[in-house]
Order: sequence, then C-alpha cells, then structure tokens
Amino acid sequence: MNGCIVHVSDTHFGGEADLALVEGVVELVPDLEPCVTVISGDLTVRARHGEFQAARALVQELEHTAPVFIIPGNHDVQWWLRPLIPYDRGAIYRKYAQYFGPNLTPTASLPGVLVAAANTAYGVTWGSLSFDPRDLAVKGHLPAKEIRRVGELFQQTDPAQLRVLVVHHNVIRGEVSERMGLVRWKRAQRQIVDCGAELVLCGHDHQECAEQLDRRVVVSCTGSLSTRSRSERPSVFHRICWDDESIQIEQYRWSSDRRSFKRADVHVFTRSRQRREAKIPARAS
Ligand SMILES: [Fe+2]
Ligand SMILES: [Fe+2]
Repeated sequence: MNGCIVHVSDTHFGGEADLALVEGVVELVPDLEPCVTVISGDLTVRARHGEFQAARALVQELEHTAPVFIIPGNHDVQWWLRPLIPYDRGAIYRKYAQYFGPNLTPTASLPGVLVAAANTAYGVTWGSLSFDPRDLAVKGHLPAKEIRRVGELFQQTDPAQLRVLVVHHNVIRGEVSERMGLVRWKRAQRQIVDCGAELVLCGHDHQECAEQLDRRVVVSCTGSLSTRSRSERPSVFHRICWDDESIQIEQYRWSSDRRSFKRADVHVFTRSRQRREAKIPARAS
C-alpha cells in the first residue's frame, strides 16, 4: 500500500521562528497530499503561552489537509519546575498539555501505516544526565519502558502497515553539530532497531539527514523552521512516501531567492518485505 507523510520539526515559535518558512510549509502541504503531518517536537522556545498559541494556530491550519501528529521536545517542557514540584512528574508538561492534550505519546493507526510516539524529553532527570554540562535539560533519553510499549504496539499491528516511530531527539549523530540527541545513544539505537520500527522520525539537531540504522531502520531527521539552522544552512523539511518495496525521503529545501520550498534531494531505501519480529526488552521484575 502506498502513502505519504509530511515531516517537519523544531518550529521554535517565539523569538526564533522564521514565519516565511512556516508559511512556506503551510502553502505547500496541500499539494503534497500527506495522510498525516508529523511535527517532531520543539514547537516553542521557552514553553510560553504565546508560543504554544502560535504553534496551535499552525496545527489548525495544517489540519485542513490531514491529521497532525505532535510530540513535545525539550523546549516544550518546563523542566525548571521539577525541583520546585518534586512529587509531580506531570508538572513540566502541563502547559504543553493545555494546548495539545495530555497524551504525550500519541498513536495514529491509518490506512497502511501505524505512527507511534516515544517520549524522549524529560527535562532534568537522572536518565538524561551526562558528564557534559551543555547537555543539561537539552539531551533526551529513551527509557526501556517507552521502547517496550512501542514494541508491543508494533507487534500487534497489521503486517501490511508501515511501522513508524516518532521521537524528538536525533537518533543519528548530527553532521555539523557532531552531537547525538540521546544519552546512552548506542543502547537507544539498538532498542529502536529491535522494537520493529521501519522508519524513525526525529528532529532536535536542526540539520536534515536521511540515513539508516543498522541498514534496517530508515531515519528521517528534519531541519528547523526557525532561524537556528545549523551553519546557516537553508531549512529543509521532508515528505516521506512508501510502497511495498521502498521508503523514499524527498527533501524540500528553502530557496531564499524564490521565498518558497523546492523539491531537492531524494533518498530511496529498500523496504524489507519480511516483517521483522520485535525484540522487546523484558519488564523489570
Ligand atoms: Fe530544536
Ligand atoms: Fe530539541
């Protein structure tokens, strides 16, 4: 079965959003005919009400074409509240939930595709701490229970459905940043491959890439629709199309001359016809 997803990320509404880029996406999406548009987090800069309101206006505009699938990024959580309200884990997501609902890890089952989110944005927690002070409240982590839950969802899907995992943090090292989005990234990569995902959608790095994990799982990491593009590269978002044989990532690159996105590079990956069985991490006893 054929289908298409539009994948954008890191709008960073607030002082950093580039409205020309946002409007360029809004203008083009109807022609791209996605069955779902995915925004893989960092809708805001500082999780402020006005920033979420602008993000919600974008979502409502995109919903005229197709359902919009949203997850929070590290900029969308009020991580600084955690030390103030130590017994309320939900406090840091309260403002995000006010605008996009309490479900931080939505699932969308559509004809030919199952899209499932795993949360990687937890603010400052033990799991996301590293030895680099730059990582504080920036890096994410992928708890075993999250990837187990997604693996169980993928196990139950119709074998004909493409299995898509959405996370915020980049699961591949950024070419310019030379940084991984997740702490304990090797384990996270192994768990993603084992969970049965065929395609991962992520952002956070603000540089686009289309690659594979372990030559089996296609990774779409899109750029940012903000002024924070890596090395001042033109912004890129992705349209991902699939059929029984392949997964194709079309990159739409911003042209500052034409003030619009233009179809640029296309990356084609062979889709394994044989369904891989998920190796789901065991529950802690
Ligand atoms: Fe970001
Ligand atoms: Fe981020």
